[in-house]
Amino acid sequence: MNIIDDRTTLSDALVIFGVTGDLAHKMIFPALYAMAKHGTLNVPVVGIAASKWSLTQLRNQVEESIRKSAKIDDQSALSHLLSLLQYVSGDYNDPNTFKALKQVLNGARCPAHYLAIPPALFATVIKRLGAAGLANQARIIVEKPFGRDLASARELNRTALTMFPENSIFRIDHYLGKEAIMNILYFRFANSFLEPIWNRNYVASVQITLCEDFGVKGRGAFYESVGCLRDVIQNHLLQIVALLAMEAPAYQGFGAVHSEKAKVFQAMRPLKPDDVVRGQYIGYRQEPGVAENSDVETFCALRLRIDSWRWEGIPWYLRSGKFMAATAVEVLVELKPPPQKLFDDSAGEGERANYLRFRLSPNSAVALAARIKHVGKEFVGDQRELFLLDEQPKEEMPYERLLSDAMTGDGALFTREDAVDAAWAVVDPVLGPPQSVYPYEPGSWGPKQADALIAADGNWHNPIPMKEKK
Ligand code: BG6
Repeated sequence: MNIIDDRTTLSDALVIFGVTGDLAHKMIFPALYAMAKHGTLNVPVVGIAASKWSLTQLRNQVEESIRKSAKIDDQSALSHLLSLLQYVSGDYNDPNTFKALKQVLNGARCPAHYLAIPPALFATVIKRLGAAGLANQARIIVEKPFGRDLASARELNRTALTMFPENSIFRIDHYLGKEAIMNILYFRFANSFLEPIWNRNYVASVQITLCEDFGVKGRGAFYESVGCLRDVIQNHLLQIVALLAMEAPAYQGFGAVHSEKAKVFQAMRPLKPDDVVRGQYIGYRQEPGVAENSDVETFCALRLRIDSWRWEGIPWYLRSGKFMAATAVEVLVELKPPPQKLFDDSAGEGERANYLRFRLSPNSAVALAARIKHVGKEFVGDQRELFLLDEQPKEEMPYERLLSDAMTGDGALFTREDAVDAAWAVVDPVLGPPQSVYPYEPGSWGPKQADALIAADGNWHNPIPMKEKK
């Protein structure tokens, strides 16, 4: 195994395992098209899967996927992308499949192998790539979920590291490729006003909601194998927590960001059953691919503690669910109220104190809520939001950003081994035998037990569904 010293070596081929699958169709092909439009894709793209497709079938599939996701506004970029495609059909357990791949790669020096396949196959493909000599100088891009618990994530890391050095392993969490999420890091450390209040002395609680107003959208069989906690909380939401909670990186460079994020995961208290409320939307058991007595959660709310100097004693509440009342991702950092209640209308019972709100999806915004006096003799007012950032056009698709980064060897927006390990360690104690799963109405905010979880520190902030106006 050789280590790529030159981190800027551009991958000279992209191999997509699972090219006939759902992820490729929905996310990868539109990202490749965007790369072709932006001139960043100029190497062979080899699709590989078990189906006996012809190259023409793959090309048609790619074109159809792009048509579905966006309008085709650059015919020459599309033709360019189609001309780069090649297809290998075969079983991932069969060494001949990898021989065929090697032939098609035709001496490529530094291919990037992208595993867009069911997680159960990750280790098999990694080992076969190694055995076929296709791991030398190559990069490996691994889709989530990276493992299904702490033990399997460690095992997968071990397997991957026997064939690839850490700086050639790109573990995808597509949330890290989103502008609004990158802005958390920027906003926190490009401004000085935040730091004095960004700690247990001024922050009362932090909550994050990732809600979706649709169900499992035909992915019932996949969802049965993960559930909400593994699907979005262990990865996307914990990544957001890490960016919000981390210390300032010690130097300019993503190695330092990775290190600080890993420390946050390491400081998180492992979850106990009492910290978690699970729910399942009524009707989930009738979804195709779902067991009729399934106890897999489609909703999960939890209370998290970070045992660090900065965050000691501050509760972090995380919540996510399918078929909820809105589709949005929001963070609410609620501040402590002023020490003295000088005005009759100062934030009282049930009213929120000042807060900072990060709207991360579907549009992005950062808002700071503060009280302002009404005109008149009385000292009364209300809380208003000051918008610091609103939607910005021309956002790159996360998969475009992540694929191009991986192909240039830039691991900034990927997760590092120690962080993945520590994040699994947080949720591992509650992955075991299923606890109660409470039913909830589709279109609601989840089971009422989730309200009880947060009651000691207030109530959930429910993001508003539609696009906000200033
Ligand atoms: C994926 C999950 O990782 O993230 C999905 O598997 C979820 O279940 C999706 O819907 C949410 O991502 P986004 O980018 O649509 O917010």
